[in-house]
Amino acid sequence: MSKLQNLVSYFREEAKREREYSKRLEETAAKSHNIMLKTLMKAVSLDSLKHALIYETLADLLENPRLVTEKESEDIIREIEKHIEEERESIEELHKLLEDERVKDNPAAKFLIELMLRDENFHHALLKRLHDAVIKPLVFSESDYWDAVWKDAIWHGAPGG
Ligand SMILES: [Fe+2]
Ligand SMILES: [Fe+2]
Repeated sequence: MSKLQNLVSYFREEAKREREYSKRLEETAAKSHNIMLKTLMKAVSLDSLKHALIYETLADLLENPRLVTEKESEDIIREIEKHIEEERESIEELHKLLEDERVKDNPAAKFLIELMLRDENFHHALLKRLHDAVIKPLVFSESDYWDAVWKDAIWHGAPGG
């Protein structure tokens, strides 16, 4: 097996592991009686499913690097624009909720809202960068482009940022 094929196999194995782990987390969540524990275990379980998907993409990408240059349709670009706006609205709503008297003194509720806020900030920045990426397909030829996408999303999606 070539060195590249080794890594592809590794990614496929990791995808399998994340899927199985996700299932076990969900089973624990289902048995739990504590509402916070139940919800957060379920949330981590969904993240593990997300990681399985990403590992599968990593494997596909290494096998076929040209996949990254596929062009997107006008429709998809418009839809991404709508999603960016939706993420921005969510961020505003969550900020308002954090200031709400009914939430302020409830640490568990605050924790859940801050958790979502962290995700929405990251989603918003990531979708914005992805939008730039699909409308400027030529930029893909630059090897450091995805590095820039990542850094921008990380800075704008950082907790509290
Ligand atoms: Fe994971
Ligand atoms: Fe979101």
